[in-house]
Amino acid sequence: NAGSKSGRGALIVLEGLDRSGKSSQCARLLSYLEGQGWRAEGWRFPDRGTSVGQMISAYLANESQLDDRTVHLLFSANRWEKRALMESKLLGGTTLIVDCYSYSGVAFSAAKGLDIEWCKAPDVGLIAPDLVIYLDVQPEKAAERGGYGGERYEKIEFQKRVADHYHSLSDSTWKIVDGSLSMETVEEQLRELATNCIQESQEKPLTNLAW
Ligand code: TMP
Ligand code: MG
Repeated sequence: NAGSKSGRGALIVLEGLDRSGKSSQCARLLSYLEGQGWRAEGWRFPDRGTSVGQMISAYLANESQLDDRTVHLLFSANRWEKRALMESKLLGGTTLIVDCYSYSGVAFSAAKGLDIEWCKAPDVGLIAPDLVIYLDVQPEKAAERGGYGGERYEKIEFQKRVADHYHSLSDSTWKIVDGSLSMETVEEQLRELATNCIQESQEKPLTNLAW
């Protein structure tokens, strides 16, 4: 029994390095929640379906070159262009399971050497997650998992710097889950964290990201 389903939906973000298992776990969590009768959708950033997202996608595939700050602002703009829809879904009672959000935005850009406070600024005012689940996997282990797909950031030295920045961003909304455990064990932990979060968020107002 999933309890009362009358309140707003929860914003649940999964973060972690490339190949940490985020996408698989997002899909598993989503089907579990739906099976429990919750209204939920799976989202991911970058959303490559918009014109901003297509610019990002070409950049990641090394088909275009963009200045580091420019691409940082495009990633942020890609979240801003979805903010109104996110808000209406959440207020309408739909929980969003989001694969990567502002924390990736900051961690990846800071790993290039950009100032971290500068990186945070454009995302102030986006919707704050109710829960951030960080799938913690050693960069070496992530790299071993079937290898990287060849996109721009999928290099081990770079991912190590990204991991350091992720760790510096964690706050009270973060739950760090050991992503090196079995798929099923991780899945079980995510189910419990998400269910508790959805139940607790129902009567809470939405807040804005302030870092
Ligand atoms: P994807 O493989 O999940 O589509 O993510 C694409 C890459 O973009 C991944 O390496 C993480 C990175 N990224 C950023 O650099 N900034 C961001 O704001 C987000 C959401 C992802
Ligand atoms: Mg990728």
